Amino acid sequence: MALRVLAIETSCDETAAAVVEDGRRVLAQAVASQMHIHARFGGVVPEVASRRHVESITPVIAAALTEAGLSWPDLDAIAVTCGPGLLGALLVGVSAAKGLSLATGLPLVGVHHIAGHVAAAFLGTDVRPPLLALVVSGGHTELLSLDASFRFRRLGGTKDDAAGEAFDKVARLLGLPYPGGPKVDELAASGNPEAFAFPRALLDEEGLDFSFSGLKTAVQHALQNSARDRREVAVADVCASFQQAVVDVLVAKTARAVQATGCGTVVVAGGVAANRGLRRALSARARADGFTVVFPPVELCTDNASMIGAAGCFLAEQGRFDGLSLNAHATLPLETWQAGSPV
Ligand code: KG4
Ligand code: ZN
Repeated sequence: MALRVLAIETSCDETAAAVVEDGRRVLAQAVASQMHIHARFGGVVPEVASRRHVESITPVIAAALTEAGLSWPDLDAIAVTCGPGLLGALLVGVSAAKGLSLATGLPLVGVHHIAGHVAAAFLGTDVRPPLLALVVSGGHTELLSLDASFRFRRLGGTKDDAAGEAFDKVARLLGLPYPGGPKVDELAASGNPEAFAFPRALLDEEGLDFSFSGLKTAVQHALQNSARDRREVAVADVCASFQQAVVDVLVAKTARAVQATGCGTVVVAGGVAANRGLRRALSARARADGFTVVFPPVELCTDNASMIGAAGCFLAEQGRFDGLSLNAHATLPLETWQAGSPV
């Protein structure tokens, strides 16, 4: 019998719902994006986000169920992102999920946002753990291992800015629109990646940690120097050189994690997994070193509810349900979430 999960994701600026079957098939997805509202502020405004989620959550869930052609008795569980993210935004999704669970009797599955990003790799594929995951999003840059019983272990992560955050901050310095990552990616394609010698922090260090705040500062200095000398900067060259610096470090550390663990499958997850430079460089390194790298389709790399549904299915299969005491958490270490419902 198929396992069908309704999934809800409201951790940031998109109200999203999906119906996922067996952690592999997306039966329906619906989304109300607020990106255009936040774009004029140059970033997500939490209070505005919460209000929009409240307005959108019911129609979005209804649209997903209608598109799937299913009603409540056809479902087996309700999965919802319980953290990390914007607290007010998360609370809208968690409250809706709890209300629906109470009304329908369907069990709840609280999903960690990062576990969701990794589970995007299972949709439409036969990829299965054990695997390594490079999670690169606006809020996270982490190297994780995932075992066959869907348990994560953190191998390394950023000490300061996340990779996506660095993309967004550099884009802002360049006067590019929010969110900056896709725009930097696009401009980098026509720039010279060797035009600027930006730093590759922690590249030669043993560990699997990252640091990107110095890189952003280096870009800022390069722009200030050009302005002082009245030199025009080639924006495409800045984008290409910056992106190459990020990609070099991500690829080197991922290859090191493969070597250290002996695990031969790497899933790349999160918004920055959409980056074309990263896709190209990591695929080339995987071919050279003999490991497999999986990039979910671009539309599943950025925040979406299907990935939460995929994770929800695997957790439900393991019997890892939550009660109505499930809560939303702005900060939620994977280990804390994994240890059971944090309060
Ligand atoms: O995973 P995500 O949608 O949201 C978070 O959970 O953070 O990731 C969003 C991040 C943003 O920082 C955005 O600029 C970045 O992913 N991003 C990209 C690309 N597409 C999205 N960064 C680099 N290249 C891209 N093509
Ligand atoms: Zn995300």
